[in-house]
Amino acid sequence: MRTHVIEHPLVDHKLTVLRDQETESPTFRRLVDELVTLLAYEATRDVRVAPDEIVTPVSPMTGVKLATPKPLVVPILRAGLGMLDGMMRLLPTAEVGFLGMVRNEETLEASTYAERLPDDLSGRQCYVLDPMLATGGTLAAAIRFLVDRGADDITCVTLLAAPEGCANLEAGLEGVDVPVTIVTAAMDERLNDKGYIVPGLGDAGDRLYGVVG
Ligand code: URA
Repeated sequence: MRTHVIEHPLVDHKLTVLRDQETESPTFRRLVDELVTLLAYEATRDVRVAPDEIVTPVSPMTGVKLATPKPLVVPILRAGLGMLDGMMRLLPTAEVGFLGMVRNEETLEASTYAERLPDDLSGRQCYVLDPMLATGGTLAAAIRFLVDRGADDITCVTLLAAPEGCANLEAGLEGVDVPVTIVTAAMDERLNDKGYIVPGLGDAGDRLYGVVG
């Protein structure tokens, strides 16, 4: 597993406003959208392309276009949905699959409650969107799900990650032999005893969409 922490002053600036507890949902959603577009630029550095013959107003040339099969973007519901538009802005022809995962707040175990994905992901590059890499359980389960369907290259885009979560994720991916890359805007200090990232930004889903139950 490769972990890439983006270092860019604009990312750090936007992330600071995002983390601030005074930042309200409309601004929070807009900042997530902007941050994901910046992260998407790095996350798609190895997206597969194929040669494409075109003619410019001046001469013929060989350019490139996204290869087929097209990449699959997979937001993890609920909070990953807030990242979808920012990602699709850079990859408008990608397809989108949905994975609903929830973590049990006592055991911190992740379970799948909804799934809408192609049955066969053979040869597909997948971009998994989940704002918080906290314990790593949700992402490990999501990645295994995609690999079991044939995905052969997986990049996870997250806003924040915790060192413990990265270590757990790496351990949870033992035996998975497809390349996995984590692209994150920041690596925070640690997890607290409730599995929240410190200093973090709180509950990403609640800050995007409001508190449920
Ligand atoms: N999920 C969140 O939304 N926030 C955290 O800090 C950890 C998991």
